[in-house]
Amino acid sequence: PAPGWTATTDVVVVGSGVAGLTAALGIRQAGLRVTVVTKAVLDEGSTRWAQGGVAAALGEGDTPEQHLADTLVAGAGLCDEQAVRVLVTEGPEAVRHLIAAGAAFDTDAEGEILLTREGGHHRRRIAHAGGDATGAEISRALVAAVRSDPELELIEHALVLDLLTDAAGHAAGLTLHVMGEGQRDGVGAIRAKAVVLATGGMGQIFSATTNPAVSTGDGVALALRAGAEVADLEFVQFHPTVFWVGPGAEGQLPLVSEAVRGEGAYLVDAAGTRFMVGQHELNELAPRDIVAKAITRQMQAQGAAHMFLDGRHFGARMWAERFPTILASCLAHGIDPVTEPIPVAPAAHYASGGVRTDLHGRTSVPGLYACGEVACTGVHGANRLASNSLLEGLVFAERIAEDLARRSAADLLPERVVDVDAARAAVAVPLPAPEARAQIQHLMSRGAGVLRSAQSMAATAEGLAALAAGAAEHAAEEKPADPRVETWEAANLLLVATALVTAAARRTETRGCHWREDFPERDDAHWQRHLTTTLDAAGV
Ligand code: SIN
Repeated sequence: PAPGWTATTDVVVVGSGVAGLTAALGIRQAGLRVTVVTKAVLDEGSTRWAQGGVAAALGEGDTPEQHLADTLVAGAGLCDEQAVRVLVTEGPEAVRHLIAAGAAFDTDAEGEILLTREGGHHRRRIAHAGGDATGAEISRALVAAVRSDPELELIEHALVLDLLTDAAGHAAGLTLHVMGEGQRDGVGAIRAKAVVLATGGMGQIFSATTNPAVSTGDGVALALRAGAEVADLEFVQFHPTVFWVGPGAEGQLPLVSEAVRGEGAYLVDAAGTRFMVGQHELNELAPRDIVAKAITRQMQAQGAAHMFLDGRHFGARMWAERFPTILASCLAHGIDPVTEPIPVAPAAHYASGGVRTDLHGRTSVPGLYACGEVACTGVHGANRLASNSLLEGLVFAERIAEDLARRSAADLLPERVVDVDAARAAVAVPLPAPEARAQIQHLMSRGAGVLRSAQSMAATAEGLAALAAGAAEHAAEEKPADPRVETWEAANLLLVATALVTAAARRTETRGCHWREDFPERDDAHWQRHLTTTLDAAGV
């Protein structure tokens, strides 16, 4: 499709969660023009679903060093220590900036921020808002802040397609598909001096996930097509306690925050036995890969579809005041956590890997930045520590804004020359039919979910290759699927799923949230290293 319209800005930010909006606000402070594009509406992404909170060494006696130590342990030998040091030392200040931007965290009578615990943290370190509605409050505050800046351009319902680059290979904007924006309807392009990807995660490659429907890996797919380096894709975190709403439940499922265990709830089987006791010094508060594996093992051993989270001892008042969101979603599904244990099972939650960046959010493509879940800054390693994700979005978005401010001040952000039509003509992505989405999800959940083996992943890879071949065949026969959001999302899901399975099949060990049944041990001699993926290596 030929771009129907072209706009020009200094920096285009793709995505409107905590990372995208923090970056946009910071870049505006540097006096640059910013356009934010987002696939649905501003608060539709993952941020507003975040419950537990933001981890930062804000409590008395806590230090960034202790936060660093917990993060490195959870990351199972693959964290980039320098990146973690940046995260934990700049984290407390980034939370204060967020409060200054209008986010109201829960406080005690003296106005001190209340802190809770979550898996893998040896201290109370998690700041929360609205009890268990932290992401919703952060999203509300940031959306209000960007909306109050009339100079900050917002384009909603805009699915990003591909990166534009100039003759030197520098990011120069992007193409996008816009629906319902009046004059801008259809396929368009934005020219920019730099591009920031903050598109969030890819949970929708699996059939059961905590991620909203918009989390289709668009940023990683764009980055792969643009030739950017992507790393650690095999490390998909499965949240241990996702509300089991019934047999065959699919799509976005309600989260039951780790903070519920942080406040003392127990994981039990149908007989009421606490199976985490004796498995880890932190019992139910072990890092989440360990808890997710333990739950999965119990489910397998007992032939059960789920385990239970028991917080009956909290009492009605605590459930209502501390966990109103979870209480409401349990009641909506006929479970009263005050009198019954909550059925829970693991589901896909967070992509620890993504588009590789340095400490300033710069990817391997000049002028292309990434922050938030789409990025792989190195802070999560093989398994993200609970509540480090909102923090990462804040800290590294601020760093991107600082880098762009520096570049702008040094006159290093020139206009980029790009032939938009020629760039468009070079884009030839075979679009699968929209039904491919469910097929991809089932293939991934069956063969590349919590449990993986060479055999299960080969079957998944074969199924994905057949879907790709079908799309290519239709394109060659000039019967391509319509270019619309559903087909582009299916193309992105297919590319990202294929890249993920390729990486997961290569890593012949068990580490962090990558669990191989055929290679059950961690193998530091061969695998204490990152796997990077490029479009060719993804085999798509
Ligand atoms: C939760 O509230 O359990 C989610 C925390 C996280 O994913 O970091």
